[in-house]
Amino acid sequence: MSVRIALLATCLFGLAATAQAPTSLKAAYHGDFYIGAAINTAQITGEDTRGDAIIAAQFDSISPENCLKWENVHPQPDKYDFNLPDQYVAFGQKNHMFIVGHNLVWHSQTPAWVFHDDKGNLLTRDALLARMRDHIHTVVGRYKGRIQSWDVVNEALNEDGTLRPSLWYKIIGPDYIEKAFEYAHEADPGAQLNYNDYNLENEPKRNGAITLVKQLQAAGIPISTVGIQEHDSLDWPTLDQLNASIEAFGKLGVKVAISELDVDILPRATRQQTADVSVRAAQNPALNPWPNGLPDSVEQQLTKRYADLFGVYLKHREVVNRVTLWGVTDADSWKNDWPVPGRTNYPLLFDRSGKPKPAYDAVLRLASGQ
Ligand code: G3I
Repeated sequence: MSVRIALLATCLFGLAATAQAPTSLKAAYHGDFYIGAAINTAQITGEDTRGDAIIAAQFDSISPENCLKWENVHPQPDKYDFNLPDQYVAFGQKNHMFIVGHNLVWHSQTPAWVFHDDKGNLLTRDALLARMRDHIHTVVGRYKGRIQSWDVVNEALNEDGTLRPSLWYKIIGPDYIEKAFEYAHEADPGAQLNYNDYNLENEPKRNGAITLVKQLQAAGIPISTVGIQEHDSLDWPTLDQLNASIEAFGKLGVKVAISELDVDILPRATRQQTADVSVRAAQNPALNPWPNGLPDSVEQQLTKRYADLFGVYLKHREVVNRVTLWGVTDADSWKNDWPVPGRTNYPLLFDRSGKPKPAYDAVLRLASGQ
């Protein structure tokens, strides 16, 4: 009898284990954090059917890679273009996703007219604040209750943790950040509001972000999340740096979004580890060593790196509320053209043909504890 029971139990547990084995990233991490992808124009419009199938099957959050940046959504003073953003939000709603808005206030991808009057003079503080408020109310207001999280201010810090001397800063003063969060909160009091930046794993910049969050909190400004972008390489950041950053932000009572994850395995073309979009480097075959496929040894390093990173995110699942990959397949990634144009990079979890990579399997296995 007891043998029969034991057999039955083995069968049932076996079946249960089969039924529970996760077959997608979003299922594997359900209950831990959202798994997101930044999506591009072809994916938003439905032209990239292969990419869309991957997004719908694997991810439960999306970020707009470009279509909500100021230059795209608000190219001229009296012209907003909501064609792509409307399709982006509809795509997320159709697939019941956690929808991210990226971004409202950034020094980059913002047209020159934003900062100038008709005669070409720099605006006054009040005029620029009015323009910022109008933009934020128009864009956030349109998607109220549908975009759940906004990157309100993007990349406002220098590497030493001081504030970047952008035109926002120069014209308005340091409180431009406070104002941006205030306006976003007015426009959608229910939305999560995020400060988003790269290199927050480095101590000086992390400390700058901590000071910023504390200042916002002291002023009663509703900041809910810090976005650690995580444009990583194989050796940066160290897991200690990453742990320390997540812990430090967690202690402030905000959540952490891993907001733009990718892992660059190509030789570094710049002296500094950065994700500054204005940086450029010249083409050179030595910087593009694997145009026809990745050697196994490097593939294995990438796989281990992804497993290590997700190990840290899982450890901090109480603080981390989403992990967003910056792209869907390797073919989509900005890393093929930055900082050197025309390289073949391998930074994501799906290869150029849309096939899951060994790194994908490792990330999936990690969640199910196998
Ligand atoms: O759509 C135009 C196309 O019509 C034109 O022919 C072509 C010629 O250059 O440009 C196309 O636009 C490009 C766009 O990507 C879409 O591919 C822009 O030039 C190019 O600047 C833009 O790059 C984006 C970059 O931000 C700047 O906005 C990348 O795709 C995007 O991945 C990258 O994302 C940033 C985050 O927003 C912030 N954090 C860093 C991250 C990586 O740089």
